Amino acid sequence: MTKTPAILVIAAATGVAVTIGILSGSIVRPVAAQAGRTILDGVYNDEQAARGKKLYVVSCSSCHQEGLQGADLAPALKGDDFVLKWAGYSMQDLFDKIATTMPGDAPGTLAPQVNADIASFILQANKFPSGHEELKPDAPLLKAIAITPKPPAP
Ligand code: HEC
Repeated sequence: MTKTPAILVIAAATGVAVTIGILSGSIVRPVAAQAGRTILDGVYNDEQAARGKKLYVVSCSSCHQEGLQGADLAPALKGDDFVLKWAGYSMQDLFDKIATTMPGDAPGTLAPQVNADIASFILQANKFPSGHEELKPDAPLLKAIAITPKPPAP
């Protein structure tokens, strides 16, 4: 007759406990709770967008224009075409585009917080609602926010 040594039983039980701990613990849960958020859910706040507007005027409006309508130098950053182009991507994708390729004349020179503030202003300019919390320059959080078009006006 073979008897399973007690130490193996404990190891197996601990393994299960650790697995459950990881699945329900703080590593996975925040992301799971965030999943399903979209830019319709108030992912920035008004103070941040106001900061972002000032930063946008300094670093972006020379090409994209103060009203974000774009011109010969650069495309519009507001309007249906812009939003539809990005629909299906995440805020991390848009953030990355800005962080790595913009401003067009000095790519990658702006701090992550500056880019997050400007991204929040772009959301505001496209009439996506503000909320309580700021949009944080944090890749996993940004990745969990989907860009969606606005529902058609009633
Ligand atoms: C020197 C001119 C210039 C400046 C300054 C500039 N951009 Fe751009 N931007 C461009 C050009 C040209 C394009 C189109 C080519 C491309 O997508 O890289 C563009 C494209 C973009 C796009 C993608 C647009 C789309 O239709 O997908 C975003 C977003 C953007 N810029 C954001 C910014 C932000 C935010 C700033 C300020 C931090 C900024 N840009 C500053 C020239 C500029």
